Amino acid sequence: MIIQDIVSKEIFEQSGYVAPEETGAIKMDANENPLTLQEPLKKKLLEEMGRVALNRYPEAGAPKLRERFAQYYGVNKDMVMLGNGSDELIQVLCLALKGKVSGVLTPVPTFVMYKIIAVNTGSKVVEVPLDKNFDLDIDAITSKITPTFPALVFLSCPNSPTGNLFNRDRIETIIRKSPGVVILDEAYADFSGKTFLPLLKKYDNLIFLKTLSKLGLASMRLGFLIGNKNIVAQLDKVRLPYNVNCLSQTAANFFLDYREEFAKQIAQIVKRREELYLGMKEIQGITPYPSQANFIFFSCAFDSNRIYTELVKSGIIVKNMNAGLTRNCMRVTVGNLEENEAFLKALKRAVYELGA
Ligand SMILES: Cc1ncc(COP(=O)(O)O)c(C=O)c1O
Repeated sequence: MIIQDIVSKEIFEQSGYVAPEETGAIKMDANENPLTLQEPLKKKLLEEMGRVALNRYPEAGAPKLRERFAQYYGVNKDMVMLGNGSDELIQVLCLALKGKVSGVLTPVPTFVMYKIIAVNTGSKVVEVPLDKNFDLDIDAITSKITPTFPALVFLSCPNSPTGNLFNRDRIETIIRKSPGVVILDEAYADFSGKTFLPLLKKYDNLIFLKTLSKLGLASMRLGFLIGNKNIVAQLDKVRLPYNVNCLSQTAANFFLDYREEFAKQIAQIVKRREELYLGMKEIQGITPYPSQANFIFFSCAFDSNRIYTELVKSGIIVKNMNAGLTRNCMRVTVGNLEENEAFLKALKRAVYELGA
């Protein structure tokens, strides 16, 4: 058997998503919440999980949980769908919404899974570089839009890895000109204090993606989308039955019960982000960019691979993005106080020791 004969050229040629191995290092690469739950709350969650009937399938489509999220965001239950992380929902979107020409448009750099999933589901992907301020290059993007292309536009708001929010007028222009659906991925919106959700009343070709992964429950894999109920009804046909397991549903209910506790953690992370940004600004040769998310994008005036290797030696993992448009750039997740201090110390040492 020749493997190239049984997989598509696009899948064969891509490297796929690679997550670093767990090594016990300080993890500052995946934009998780670094804070753990206080012991009494954690105990409560585990008690609730203990009541789950493990021998039964979850409630199909999780109507009660959808209703709760719908109430929280002031929308109708039919506008909400849950997923095994928002990654699964990106896959559902790519599978279900092919439009007349199966194609996806994304700005770059952005969240890499949009491209990986689009390629894996047989879509053509057009990538348009952001402008020099990391905002949407509206002329370049609209010049690619035709009456039949693209079926989907993915906009991460705030954007990963750059950390900024795109200009609202530019976003609206893209929504108006798109023949298909625009996805506003608000994975990091809680760290910006801003949401574009009210746009749902204005446009019917809009879907919002949200996730609990960045807010403290990454292990539970719980994402959801909110949008036009006619689109959601079609997406629901592609969703696998029972895609969100009972323990994840219990955790999501717990998240909604204790929303204020998680909000306190988010406020703390935002504070830590500003401290981290100031600390990084003081390091010569390092340029951090202002962030509205729970990570900081930065460029190095020298080979970031060498800095990355030194950070790993110091027991710290960040996201090295040294390729193409993000040459010599990295992204660091905001950690807790000790983690940020350790990172700053290691970064300073790496920069000075390398004589960069
Ligand atoms: C912009 C963006 N969207 C979605 C996701 C995926 O989140 P989930 O863990 O819910 O699959 C991520 C994760 O890094 C992300 O950065």
